[in-house]
Amino acid sequence: MADSQADMILSLRPGTMPPDRMDEAAARDELGLLAAAIAYHDTRYHGEDAPVISDADYDALVARNRALEAVFPSLVREDSPSLRVGAPAAAGFGKVRHARPMLSLNNGFSDEDIEDFAARIRRFLSLAEDDELAFTAEPKIDGLSLSLRYEGGTLVQAATRGDGAEGEDVTDNIRMVGAVPQALAGSPPDILEVRGELYMDRDDFLALNTAQEAAGGKIFANPRNAAAGSLRQKDPEVTGSRNLQFFAYSLGETSAPIATTHKECLDQLSSYGFSVNDYSMRTTQVSELLERHKFIISERPSMSYDIDGVVYKVDRHDYQDRLGQVARAPRWALAHKFPAEQAETTLNAIDIQVGRTGALTPVARLQPVTVGGVVVSNATLHNEDEIRRKDIRVGDRVVIQRAGDVIPQVVRVITEARPSGSAEFIFPIRCPECGAAAIRPDGEAVRRCTNSLECPAQRLEWLKHFVSRNAFDIAGLGARQIDQFVALGWVTRPADIFRLAARRAALAKLDGYGETSITNLLAAIEARREIAFERMIFALGIRQVGQATARLLALHFDTPQAMMAALAPEADIDATVADLIAIDQVGDSMADDLVAFFHNGTNRAAVADLLSQLSVIPPERPADDSPVSGKTIVFTGTLSRMSRAEAKARAESLGAKVSGSVSGKTDYLVAGADAGSKARKAADLGVTVLGEDEWLALIDG
Ligand code: IVH
Repeated sequence: MADSQADMILSLRPGTMPPDRMDEAAARDELGLLAAAIAYHDTRYHGEDAPVISDADYDALVARNRALEAVFPSLVREDSPSLRVGAPAAAGFGKVRHARPMLSLNNGFSDEDIEDFAARIRRFLSLAEDDELAFTAEPKIDGLSLSLRYEGGTLVQAATRGDGAEGEDVTDNIRMVGAVPQALAGSPPDILEVRGELYMDRDDFLALNTAQEAAGGKIFANPRNAAAGSLRQKDPEVTGSRNLQFFAYSLGETSAPIATTHKECLDQLSSYGFSVNDYSMRTTQVSELLERHKFIISERPSMSYDIDGVVYKVDRHDYQDRLGQVARAPRWALAHKFPAEQAETTLNAIDIQVGRTGALTPVARLQPVTVGGVVVSNATLHNEDEIRRKDIRVGDRVVIQRAGDVIPQVVRVITEARPSGSAEFIFPIRCPECGAAAIRPDGEAVRRCTNSLECPAQRLEWLKHFVSRNAFDIAGLGARQIDQFVALGWVTRPADIFRLAARRAALAKLDGYGETSITNLLAAIEARREIAFERMIFALGIRQVGQATARLLALHFDTPQAMMAALAPEADIDATVADLIAIDQVGDSMADDLVAFFHNGTNRAAVADLLSQLSVIPPERPADDSPVSGKTIVFTGTLSRMSRAEAKARAESLGAKVSGSVSGKTDYLVAGADAGSKARKAADLGVTVLGEDEWLALIDG
């Protein structure tokens, strides 16, 4: 994603203007931003198991979206977050259409929210005041939901939630999980879909990370991510070795009812051999639900697994059926979330960090304090407006909060405890690293150092970006080594990396460098002298130029020399900009950033020097004489001769565009075995449907 778009998403806070005082245009704009931001966070959370904001902040975005939509129902977008659940199914596993959708839960935060929930249900069911209405309360497990399908008492399919309608087929992996019954006890109905949460105990999570660290494997941020990562393994044996746990808590499709209430359902599931949560209880009193919530919070530290709230459910199934669902969540259930964990400490200093694109980010240095079991000594302050809004000053006592694994935040200042003589924090207007002017353009939240790569901080971050995974990706050369080589003065610009071989003897004198590691490092660097043009462009770290744009630019210019020439200060800038924005998906501001980058003398010299070290491979061009070039193709069903990923890559190399959904723009639907709704939709739209053999005949001529 483009840098500025990521910045926008990461810094987006829910608006504070009451929706009923807003005009339509402002609401439409904010709903657009919210949809983009929530979709981004959904992918980080569900697709990549790596959230970047706290659950509380995420929930606030969703709540703001809902509040705006309530006042402006006509502005509900087609891609509104309220109309979908979670992230789409990940590539790599087959897809499973859920027989009944897997829903999400609405959240409540205050006692009042819970009372409103109960009152709404009473109204909906037209219950009299003395009519009994029972609820259950159970912990909300912080794992990932699974749907398990049993036929004749035997497990036949396991699927993740995915987007709620379609999830990933994880049957092979789940067969290796001891906590999931492979065959049921008792006499379950012929078809029984059981839903519940797959999770990892905290102890197992810690042990896994220790083992991963020793083996140089991926470190997981929290048990939820560890469970998700352990499930999504190519090798089911690995999943089996991870000690995953499962609690059953609801049903999908069943051929016959197994209970008339939720409580009975849990008992029944337990009799079939499932674990159900011990903390679940039933009551007819809302006040007892609230007490249960408090009790579960007090139990939380001693529980062996992470939970993030308490789920209340209407006990009677016939009531549940009548209540039904709204958009993505049942009307009959509510998650009562826990407040984020907070602590009080002293703010010792406010440091300003300078990022790769020059953004000045304030960071609070705190007197170390334990919050939710983790020692916190830094917190993000976001940007200068945030500091001003909360009037945060050095020396203040502050309340900080931490939710899940995300960066801790300063919630507020305890003004009563403010030391006398404290002064308002003045955000620097010069870069603290190089002293150059730091400018904040109108309408932007971020102030940036204007010194580009002359600024040592920007240069350091730039070099780290240069060697990062999607850029040069040199084994043995990461952020730590860049810090070291820059400090030694060995590397000041990317080309210097390719001159490290000349420092072999000096390298051998550094701690931690043996003969083998030096040989490996230098070999890894040599191997990267040949580099794809698009990777090279991405590595340059130009503002707004992410991987996708880098590819477009590589296709457009073909060689770095052509790119340098078109963007040279002496070239006709208007023509170049016009040429750039003619590229689909490149806009004015991106063209401006490209021009600014290449007109800067330091940058030009660094790129020219780099090119003297490299042999750049021009982008592979999709064939434009193939029968499918320029066509839009959708694959569906199971292909027998190749994987879906391979089919997609093949089609793209022939110049076709591969899309995930059928629309009027689709030219061909390639339908493998068991093609479902997409084939029907294609037929409705009159799209040409090809079988696998016909498809192969078409492309092989
Ligand atoms: S019931 C139709 N019960 O929370 C209602 N969900 O935020 C389906 N979760 O997707 C969910 N513990 O992954 C239910 N005791 C519990 C739960 C629970 C965790 C998860 C589940 C769901 C998510 C919604």
